[in-house]
Amino acid sequence: MTNIAMPAPVSAEEAQSQERVQTLLAQMGLDEKIGQMSQLQAGGGYVPDHIADAIRAGRVGSVLNEVDLDTINALQHIAVEESRLGIPLLVGRDVIHGFKTIFPIPLGQAASWNTELVEAAARISAAEAASCGINWTFAPMIDVSRDPRWGRVAESPGEDPVLGSAIGVAMVRGFQGSALQEVGAIAACAKHFAAYGAAESGRDYNTANVPENELRNVYLRPFKAAADAGVATFMTAFCEIDGVPATGNHWLLDDVLRQEWSYKGMVVSDWESVVEMSVHGYTHDDSEAAFAAVTAGVDMEMASSSYRDHVEHMVHSGAISLEHIDRMVGRILQLKFDLGLFENPYTHREDHAELLNRQHLKVAKDLATQSCVLLKNEQSTLPLSTTRLESVSLIGPLADDGYEQMGTWVFDGEAQHSVTVATALREVIGRTVEIRHLAGLETTRASSSDDFAEVRQVAAEVDVNILVLGEESFMSGEAHSRANIDLPGQQLELLEAVAAAGKPVVVIIMAGRPLTLDRVMPLADAVLYAWHPGSMGGPAIADLLLGLASPSGKLPVTFPRAVGQIPIYYAQKNTGRPPTDATCLHIDDVPAQAPQTSLGMASFHLDAGFRPLFPFGFGLSYAQFQYVKITTSHHHIALGEYVDISADVLNTGMHEGEEVVQLYVRDLVGSVTRPVRELKAFRRVRLRPGERQRISFRLHTDDLAFYDRNMQWVVEPGHFHAWIGGDSEASLQTEFEVRTA
Ligand code: BGC
Repeated sequence: MTNIAMPAPVSAEEAQSQERVQTLLAQMGLDEKIGQMSQLQAGGGYVPDHIADAIRAGRVGSVLNEVDLDTINALQHIAVEESRLGIPLLVGRDVIHGFKTIFPIPLGQAASWNTELVEAAARISAAEAASCGINWTFAPMIDVSRDPRWGRVAESPGEDPVLGSAIGVAMVRGFQGSALQEVGAIAACAKHFAAYGAAESGRDYNTANVPENELRNVYLRPFKAAADAGVATFMTAFCEIDGVPATGNHWLLDDVLRQEWSYKGMVVSDWESVVEMSVHGYTHDDSEAAFAAVTAGVDMEMASSSYRDHVEHMVHSGAISLEHIDRMVGRILQLKFDLGLFENPYTHREDHAELLNRQHLKVAKDLATQSCVLLKNEQSTLPLSTTRLESVSLIGPLADDGYEQMGTWVFDGEAQHSVTVATALREVIGRTVEIRHLAGLETTRASSSDDFAEVRQVAAEVDVNILVLGEESFMSGEAHSRANIDLPGQQLELLEAVAAAGKPVVVIIMAGRPLTLDRVMPLADAVLYAWHPGSMGGPAIADLLLGLASPSGKLPVTFPRAVGQIPIYYAQKNTGRPPTDATCLHIDDVPAQAPQTSLGMASFHLDAGFRPLFPFGFGLSYAQFQYVKITTSHHHIALGEYVDISADVLNTGMHEGEEVVQLYVRDLVGSVTRPVRELKAFRRVRLRPGERQRISFRLHTDDLAFYDRNMQWVVEPGHFHAWIGGDSEASLQTEFEVRTA
C-alpha cells in the first residue's frame, strides 16, 4: 500500500480558472512573470517610492509586513490600476496566534487539544487581519518540535505528528474558511518544510539530521495532513536536510511534495533562505542559489532579490525552461484568482467585523482557559475557596504585564488590550478578598533581591500566595533559543522566599516552552502552566484559580527534568535495553568503587533516570477521572478492517470537568522498529461528578500505517497493544491482531 495520490480530476470550475491563468500568462512578459515570483518587504504605513515603482513595473507579486489598511489599498491600487496587467498583490503577514486579539501561543493552543476552538481562533485571526487588507498568513507552523531549548517550540504544535496534524489542519480550516474568496478568509501557509524543528541542540537555524524514514514518519506527517486539507501555500525551512538546504531540495519539494503528494499550491521561500544557500555552502552565489530554488520548485522568493536579478538570464540561456517558469507563476496567479483578488482587490473596513470584539475576546478567553495545564494540586489547593479566603498575595514579574503574556510572534497585538492576572483577580474577587500585589522582581531575568524582605512579610500575612512566574516573551520564538531552560533570574529564590512562609503556594507559569521545573515543583502546592496565554490570559487564569472553570489542558510536549535528557519524547523507540524503575539506579545509590556491571545495563541517565518530569498528554483537573473496562470489538482484524477500542471514563471527584481522552497504540514488531507508543486519537469529554461515559475510538488498519524501509506507506500484520487514558503513560491496556486476511 502506498500513499501516491492520483491527480484529482479537474472540475468545470477548476478548468475555467486554469484557463484564466493561462490567458493571463500568455499576456505576460518574462520580467512580469519573474516579478510575480518576487516578494518585497513593505511596512511602516507608507508606500516607499522604490516599491511603488517596482509594483508599477510589474516586478512584484507580493509584499509582506504592511498592516495599514489605507497603505495596503494604495499598494493594491498601484498594482491594479497602474501596472500594465493589473495583477493584484498577495499581502503577507505573520499572523501566528492572533492579529489584534491575541490567542495563546500555538504550543498553548495545542495544549487545549480542542481543534474546534483552535479553528475558531484562526478564523478570528484571519478576519481581523483581512479587515486590514492582509490576504495571506505565514501560519500554521507545524514543525514537530522535540527540543524545548529551541525558541520556536513556542510557535509549534509540540512533539507529536498526530496532534500536530490535527492542530495544523484546524488552523488551516480557520484561516482559509470554506472558500478563500469569502470575506475574512486568508490563505494559510504550512511552514517550515521541513524538519526545522529537529535543529541540533535546539539552536535556531541549525542543521537537522533526520533519516528519511523518520522524516516521513514524524516530521512530514503534519505537512501531508495540511496539504490534504488544502493549505494554499507552503514555506520552505531555513535548515538543510541531509546536506541539501530545504529551499533548494528538489527531492523534498518536487519528488515528495509535488509528485507523491500531488500538491498544487504555491511554495514560498523563507526570509532570504534562497540566497542563504550560498552561506550554507551549497551554492557559490545568488545566481546559483536562485537556480537551485527555481529548479527545486520554490515559486516565490521572500525578501531577497536573486530571482529578479538572475532568473531572466537563466531562461534566455535555456538553463530554465519557460514552461517551468509558467508552472510556477501559474500557481501564484491561481492563488490570486482563488482569493478573489482580481474581482475584489480592495478592502473595505465596513465589510468586516470589529477588531477585538466581544466574541473574539470570548474565544481568546476560552482557548486560554483550555490551554492551561494543571501540573500539581496537592490537597486540592485549587480551586481557591472564596468563602474562606480573606487575603491573597499576587507576586511575580508576570502577574501584571500585559505585554509579556502575549508571547512571541506578536507584531500587531497591543499590551493595552491584554487583561492581566492582577486586573482579572481584582475584578472577580477584589471586593471581598484583599489582594496584595507586588512584583518581587522587575523582570523574569532580574537578579536583585531587594524586594524579598517585603515579599517574605506579605507571604506570611496572607492566606494563600499566588505567584506568576516564567519567561518574558522574547525568550522564545525565532532565534531565541536557550541552553538552560530553568526559570530565569532570581525567580526560584523568589519562590523559595514565599514558600518559607509556610502558607499554601500556587504557582502560575507563563512561558514559551516547557521549563525544567524539578526544583520548582517541591516548593509549590499547585502549579498551573499557562504558556503565554494571550490577551485574555488574566480572566482565564482567574476563572481557573477560583473554580469557575476546571483545568483541562494536556501537555503537547514532554517536560524534561533536566536539559541533559533532551531529546525526550513519549514516542521513543524501545531500544535493546529499555529502562525500568528496577534497572535504573541513581548516582547517589551507587557504592564507591562500584563494579562495572552494577548499573542496570539499561538506557537511562545515572543522575536523571529515564522518566520525564511530566509525560506528553499529562494534565490534572479539579474533577477526578478514572479509566476502567477497556475492550476491543475484535481480537483480530484483516487489513482494510477496523477495530473499536473502548473504555469507561468516570468522574469520581466533586467537580465537573473536561478530560481529553487519549488512545495510544504500539505496533510490537515492524520491519522498521516502531515507537513504544503512538497517539492515534483523542476526544474531549465533559463529565459531571459521578458521571460515567463509554468512549469508543474506531481504528482502521490504515491508521496503523507507517513508512517502511523502502519508504512505502504500509500496514504490517501483527500484534498491537492499545491504551486508553489521560496521558501517554496510561496503563489501561488491551490488544488486537492484524492479519493479512
Ligand atoms: C521566519 C518565518 C516568517 C518569515 C516572515 C522568517 O524569519 O522563519 O517563519 O514567516 O520570517 O516574517
